[in-house]
Amino acid sequence: MIERWWRDAVLYQVYPRSFADANGDGIGDLAGVAQRLEYLEWLGIDAIWLNPVHPSPNVDWGYDVSDYTGIHPDLGTLEDLARLVAEAGARGIRILLDLVPNHSSDRHPWFRERPDFYVWADEIPNNWESIFGGGSAWTFDDERGRYYLHNFAPQQPDLNWWNPEVAPEFERILRFWFDRGVAGFRIDVAHAIFKDRELRDDPVIPGLGMRRRYSMFRPETHGILRDWRALAGTYDPPRLLLGEAYSLDVEQWAGYFGDGDQLDLAFAFMLTHADLDAEQMRGAVADVEAALPANAWPCWAGSNHDIGRLATRWAGGDDARTRCALMMLLTLRGTPCLYYGDELALTSGDVTAERIVDCATPSRDPGRTPMPWTPGGGWTDPWLPLTETSRNVEAQRADSDSTLHFTRHLIALRRRIPALRSGRYQEIAAPEGAWAWRRGDDALVALNLGDDPVEIGAIDGSIALSTNRSREGENISGNLTLAPSEGMIVVAKA
Ligand code: GLC
Ligand code: CA
Repeated sequence: MIERWWRDAVLYQVYPRSFADANGDGIGDLAGVAQRLEYLEWLGIDAIWLNPVHPSPNVDWGYDVSDYTGIHPDLGTLEDLARLVAEAGARGIRILLDLVPNHSSDRHPWFRERPDFYVWADEIPNNWESIFGGGSAWTFDDERGRYYLHNFAPQQPDLNWWNPEVAPEFERILRFWFDRGVAGFRIDVAHAIFKDRELRDDPVIPGLGMRRRYSMFRPETHGILRDWRALAGTYDPPRLLLGEAYSLDVEQWAGYFGDGDQLDLAFAFMLTHADLDAEQMRGAVADVEAALPANAWPCWAGSNHDIGRLATRWAGGDDARTRCALMMLLTLRGTPCLYYGDELALTSGDVTAERIVDCATPSRDPGRTPMPWTPGGGWTDPWLPLTETSRNVEAQRADSDSTLHFTRHLIALRRRIPALRSGRYQEIAAPEGAWAWRRGDDALVALNLGDDPVEIGAIDGSIALSTNRSREGENISGNLTLAPSEGMIVVAKA
């Protein structure tokens, strides 16, 4: 019997440079994360996903890896990571790293020493475009006199997975970290690892632009995921594979779970990209529920280092709406992944043009600004500006009405009530603007995302958590009324 610990877990994404700075150089680091474990344990999360921590020229802030088994000196050392894994483990918190198998940095020694690890052509062979803009995905390399492929920045050459010597390198990398107690990996662009062997043109659909059929989403990628799942399963407990399988086509996305033999979890971006609107979100969740194979488990997120913060994207900075969003993420069937600061209803930061460091346009920096620990921020000269600190950990920890305390209660409730983790998702009738669902027999979640008060009928139970905290403990038999931007979890009376 495989122990799928991640199905009960709450994940917490840490962008390492922006979370906590232990040595005061303005860059968050691994020792900083270790210092904040007390906070994370208090909050109640089960695992931390760290964005790439490896040596990197930082063209794409760690997603251009130049050494897959090292630690970036800005972030610490291998010993710091070992200490973090051990100290987190002592608090029941697991550590996940980020695997970047689609491409390396052009400064990885492979790029010079093993050109056969990359994808080359004498002339630009097709219409593939870089995801980061700027035109063709092919760049001329002066030294070799040929073009190489980069689905992302030119400094991120794509690996050639058709070369049978590439896969063993990544199995070695996985083992290296699994042997050191790393609990699993988030897999970067898990849908793109293999490219079309014949490098065929991507289809261009009038009005819709380019459809990435040959530069991504190749069937051979599933074989790689299967091999990694088998490898992860040889560890005790099994290591987790969480995929950034970026397809909004729900059937295609569901394919990355395979027959329960590929990804353990995949981010459900259909929900992430929906508006915080009852109709859109309930539709996205219904699609995911319908498409998922029996063995599969979605991962829900509203924020990340690419798309920015849910408090801004979904809630326009409104704390009540942010609480509704958090309540939803934590009570859908699946594993929630919070992004550092979501628990504070932290909004996107202000990064002026001169301070932008991202290689992509539009810049993703506003979603990557430092975690505000204190009313003053708690940072000295941080690498990205920290301008807005009104929502900070110190103030919210001291205030039992804060979103931080709300989130902590939500996590605790999820832990206490098994139906909120594993109960079947079943949507129930709700007026326009509202969205309500049962989890198993014992729990019900109701959100009013519209502008008018609503009533939801035939409810029996007591309010275990409400977004404004004032109605907890109230018994309901019959109609449940919800003000605009109000959400409630109702559980069966004990
Ligand atoms: C993924 C990462 C993103 C990165 C890109 C290239 O989409 O989330 O941050 O820039 O892959 O590695
Ligand atoms: Ca530091």
